[in-house]
Amino acid sequence: MEEINKKKLPSHIAIIMDGNGRWAKKKNLSRISGHIKGVDAVREVVTSCCELGIRVLTLYAFSMENWQRPKEEVAALMGLLKEYLLKEAEEMVKNNIRLSAIGRLEDLSADVRATLDEAMRKTENCDGMVLNLALSYGGRSEILHAVHGIISDLRKGRVKEEEIDLSSFPQYLWTRELPDPDLLIRTSGESRISNFLLYQIAYTELYLTETLWPDFNRTELLKAIAEYESRERRFGLTSEQINGI
Ligand code: FPP
Repeated sequence: MEEINKKKLPSHIAIIMDGNGRWAKKKNLSRISGHIKGVDAVREVVTSCCELGIRVLTLYAFSMENWQRPKEEVAALMGLLKEYLLKEAEEMVKNNIRLSAIGRLEDLSADVRATLDEAMRKTENCDGMVLNLALSYGGRSEILHAVHGIISDLRKGRVKEEEIDLSSFPQYLWTRELPDPDLLIRTSGESRISNFLLYQIAYTELYLTETLWPDFNRTELLKAIAEYESRERRFGLTSEQINGI
């Protein structure tokens, strides 16, 4: 904690929570046990980010591709998500956390969708941290969805072609109200983006760790933040320009 400079904290942390299955396999447990332990890690990381004063935390909880997993695993993940939302909504209100979600939310079953909507409604006036869950999310689909939104607005005369630029385009993404991530963490030793926030991570700092998601905790989070703070973000400029030399 002493290594963290509060003034240099990332505003937005995004996490690819990977390795639940491998964690379980190593312990001779079912994949679902790995996901159950993964939810404990979610709780610890949400609480820690909130205490630290992180503005936005985006968690890749379920990708569009994840629907193709064995149906028992999909059902278990959806059950865990629903249980988490039911249990944690009050806690989020207490901690002033606003819940938001990105992805093809219409793919969720009616009961999960209703639970999600209810948790978002309960927390809608919270103005501390935003906990943003990526659910049935795919980065390519998000960009395609934005293109369809633009075509529709052009046809309706709501926007002119020359108004579509780098400042207006992000308004068509599911993340429209959020800043781009400053730090993207991926657990479990994989070095892939896996269709996550493809447009938004142009200048995001990547932090890859061998730690499997169920073992990720406050100490691991602080390590990632300390590493982020030690980096120089140049956004395509030179070091001299950044430092005003
Ligand atoms: C990746 O591990 C993890 C997932 C596909 C799901 C992440 C979900 C949770 C942590 C729990 C539910 C989430 C919330 C927000 C309550 P993997 O199964 O791909 O692991 P493997 O690569 O080792 O098989």
